[in-house]
Amino acid sequence: MASGLTIDSRFRPEYHFTAARNWLNDPNGLLYSNGVYHLFYQHNPHSADWGNMSWGHATSADLVHWDEQPVAIGCDGEEAIFSGSAVVDVHNTSGFGAPGTSPLVAIYTSAYSAGSPLAGRQAQSLAYSTDDGATWLKYAGNPVLDRASADFRDPKVFWYDGGTESYWVMVAVEAVDREVLLYKSRDLVTWEYLSTFGPANATGGVWECPDLFELPVEGEPGTSKWVLVVNLNPGGIAGGSGGQYFLGEFDGVRFRSDSTVTEGMQENGARMGEYGWLDWGRDYYAAVSFSNAPDGRRLMIGWMNNWQYGALTPTGGWRGAMTLVREVTLVRRAGQAGLAGRVVLKQQPVDPFAGTCDVVCAAPQQLSGSYPLTVEGPADVLRIDAEFVPGTANEVGLVLREGTGERTVLAYNVAQGVLRLDRTASGETRFHEDFASVERVPVALEDGRLRLQVFLDRCSVEVFAQDGLATITDQIFPSDTSTSLTVFAEGEGAALVSLGVVR
Ligand code: FRU
Repeated sequence: MASGLTIDSRFRPEYHFTAARNWLNDPNGLLYSNGVYHLFYQHNPHSADWGNMSWGHATSADLVHWDEQPVAIGCDGEEAIFSGSAVVDVHNTSGFGAPGTSPLVAIYTSAYSAGSPLAGRQAQSLAYSTDDGATWLKYAGNPVLDRASADFRDPKVFWYDGGTESYWVMVAVEAVDREVLLYKSRDLVTWEYLSTFGPANATGGVWECPDLFELPVEGEPGTSKWVLVVNLNPGGIAGGSGGQYFLGEFDGVRFRSDSTVTEGMQENGARMGEYGWLDWGRDYYAAVSFSNAPDGRRLMIGWMNNWQYGALTPTGGWRGAMTLVREVTLVRRAGQAGLAGRVVLKQQPVDPFAGTCDVVCAAPQQLSGSYPLTVEGPADVLRIDAEFVPGTANEVGLVLREGTGERTVLAYNVAQGVLRLDRTASGETRFHEDFASVERVPVALEDGRLRLQVFLDRCSVEVFAQDGLATITDQIFPSDTSTSLTVFAEGEGAALVSLGVVR
């Protein structure tokens, strides 16, 4: 054990990835190669606090069960290895592989330390693997893209196929300037400037970890949009770190947004509500996508934490978890005034419980008051599926992880059309003043119905409402004994259409 710390299993999630020990933040270098998904991540190999930033590594065949691998790219006396991406260089454009082979190439940010002649700068560098990700070598010509900037980071690289021309495109941020910079390359080594996007929409914090990809609009053959993801910290919708997205066009040079809110750049509540948010909770950050998931799927994963309090979460010897992997698609909204006709991102989890059966199943019934659910055995690792018709009730919802003096409340307020997750009494909250929070997201009923899918995994709640049109991701730190689960309606006239608990 490098750190000599006691590794505490308290709060350790069962189906969310954590490093066996020590610190973890952003997902990095997400790719798929020869049947294996690779997840790299910001990692301190020596302590449960941020520092010594290196790329940790884990692999999975199914995006649910992850095997930790040795550190892939380690920091040294000259540089810390900040966030970035990785690609399968199918045609060996870099020449890092033997002729006819496809090396894996990581594009990361070198955060130069005092020991380097470039001290204080952030520039983009390469590392490569010719053994399918098992071992990595830093490229001797690093950095490959240096703007003499202190805040130029988080490169996401993808292969752009423009029909007549194809090349690598990099999106990276000038974090403090709230800008996304685009570059192109034919060999991953030499980069040419294309354009700049931003500042736009949410600018209440530094811009970090961008991503850019094209998605079809579901049910509209021939229609697609480009999605530009920009994480920011602080300035997220729930407070602190969060992720926003823009929809628009990318012509191989420039991204043009058609979801930029141009009037009144002030960060007030109403204006922020119009921006596209990846998640409305406090614990979904630095989310980016796999570069080449099979079957054209666009799969994203985030760090389930927030820089507000991420350094203080009460876990022992390990700190930081990833969210579930989410498949993202684009759909055109029906209904709700103001949003009707708008294309939005829909997110569905890769389900760790797929193929398992309900352990509790409630019959359709009228709801008024509270109904405790009896779940045999430990009830802190679950999926709950519930469908309500709120009718004339004031609120419907679920009380999660309840015990003496502790409860996490997921409630839908009918008059407001708002779903909220209240973790103010969820358990340990006092490690930071910003932790005891209430998250809110506008949710329109569909044919009078509210569908909720809720994932509990010891220290987290991930909520997918209306099949993923709205999501809330939050950490919670309850006592082991707080495992009661209750469904409720406040006021008369609500119905529970279905309820299943899966473990
Ligand atoms: C985002 C971030 C990145 C940076 C990394 C350092 O959480 O601040 O911008 O590359 O973390 O660990």
